[in-house]
Amino acid sequence: DDQTPPEIVDTLVVGSGIAGCAAALAAARAGSNVLVLTKASRPDGASTDRAQGGISTTRGDPEGLKADILAASDHTADPDAIDALLKDADELVEDVLLSTLDIEFDESSEDGSEISDDETDSAISERFDYTREAAHSEHRILHVDAATGTHILRPFLEYLDNHDRVEISEETAALELLTHEGRVHGVVSDERTTGKPIYAGATILATGGIGALYSRSTNPDGATGDGIAMAALAGADVADLEYVQFHPTAYAGTGEERANGATKRDGNATGDDDPFLLSEALRGEGAVLRNGNGERFMTEYHPQGDLAPRDVVARAVADEREATGEVVLDVSPLEFEAEYPALAEKCRQRGISGEEIPVAPCEHFLCGGIDVDEDGRTSLDRLYAAGECARTGVHGANRLASTSLLEGLVWGYRAGADAAGAEPEPEGIDAPELVDRDPDLPERFAAEKSRRLQRTMDDYLGLRRNPEEIGRASAVLRRLKGEVDAYTRTRTARDLYELRNACVTALLIARAASENPTSKGCHYLEGVGEPNTNTAADD
Ligand code: SIN
Repeated sequence: DDQTPPEIVDTLVVGSGIAGCAAALAAARAGSNVLVLTKASRPDGASTDRAQGGISTTRGDPEGLKADILAASDHTADPDAIDALLKDADELVEDVLLSTLDIEFDESSEDGSEISDDETDSAISERFDYTREAAHSEHRILHVDAATGTHILRPFLEYLDNHDRVEISEETAALELLTHEGRVHGVVSDERTTGKPIYAGATILATGGIGALYSRSTNPDGATGDGIAMAALAGADVADLEYVQFHPTAYAGTGEERANGATKRDGNATGDDDPFLLSEALRGEGAVLRNGNGERFMTEYHPQGDLAPRDVVARAVADEREATGEVVLDVSPLEFEAEYPALAEKCRQRGISGEEIPVAPCEHFLCGGIDVDEDGRTSLDRLYAAGECARTGVHGANRLASTSLLEGLVWGYRAGADAAGAEPEPEGIDAPELVDRDPDLPERFAAEKSRRLQRTMDDYLGLRRNPEEIGRASAVLRRLKGEVDAYTRTRTARDLYELRNACVTALLIARAASENPTSKGCHYLEGVGEPNTNTAADD
């Protein structure tokens, strides 16, 4: 009994991390009425809320940042996309983060009395305490402790809550795109259990990453690749999906929960094994990696040592863990307690009282995604993508630290500005018929299937790959998707859609990996891969 009229909006944004927020802000500023759907309870459902190290500026030297982005990507990033990022980067940090949201980034403790008022709203004002992360040749990253994402996202959502032209609908997932003759007209949401159409002049996907496809990820649990799967199923182009980035220093945990097969999804995990991030800013400020013999090892792998590109450090950490039993992040060169209180507290909660924190690589960021142009336009009319679910070309095969918040801000904003003004055209666009949630659905179905998916991705599409294993992954994933499809064809249960999206995205990753014989960055092929020993200084 679907009697209420369908919802019709100018601009629909799916996702409420930094990219979704920036898109909503830009579209609203341009006069559009904006609806933001967010499937999680916010803000902690968004990866942005967990971003630690910070947001990069150019600090007045765009060419320097460009050289670092290119070197970290092993020269696979698209120079034009980097230029497109940098041309608006500092200006949007100033406009949105400093002037509009008044984010109080950490300031330098040196006397700032010489800094004029004019300079205080500048992204490159010398009053800031710029930090540095791996593969950056300069201190140029704005931050708030090592909790930058939280300090950006919370005020951003509050600002949008108070904006007349923006509505944020929480706990609402987009299930399918509404398409007609190559044009996207909105989504079917799960707001009512029978699926509710929301018609929009333009639809912007800002759904984040794919952490839930792996057993260990720094992402929130809801990172199931929704936007990528929905876009691909509607026929949009995707690219670079083989480049799944692993962060080298996530808390290693005891591994017990994983060994027992416990997951947060089935409610059996306590969180003690939660692989929380230990920001690269720690190494940027002097922390070092040591193996199980207490030795530093990174200079044997790369001339930049502990500050080598992320993919190189992640594989080195995995190697040393295998060879010597463990790897720790030695934070004794830092004032860890005083400067990183939130991380120190997390360590204390897990019984780590000393200055050596056990670390292991863990899934962190998808460098590829839905293929977009400079304005976030996808290959489908009226469909945009921004943030982690989009592939802009900025990251190539391996992303440089602290460029993801920046990319989300810049592409989100540009997508919102470009999307504004498109008129909704709901007439004659039928929403697919979905039946009610099935109360008899076996409860464990989704949890079991998602564990099988994670094991497959962990084992065959992780830090190191080989063609035989990629082929095996594809076969397992195809079977899994068949089993899941049999359920999702008729039901709107969110878990099933998330699982469907995770299966589709995993299959696309496997396909991209199988089609790319070149070992580069995050797509490392055993027996083929030459390590990236580039530094920006070589260029
Ligand atoms: C970190 O703080 O190490 C993560 C930063 C990033 O992923 O850009």
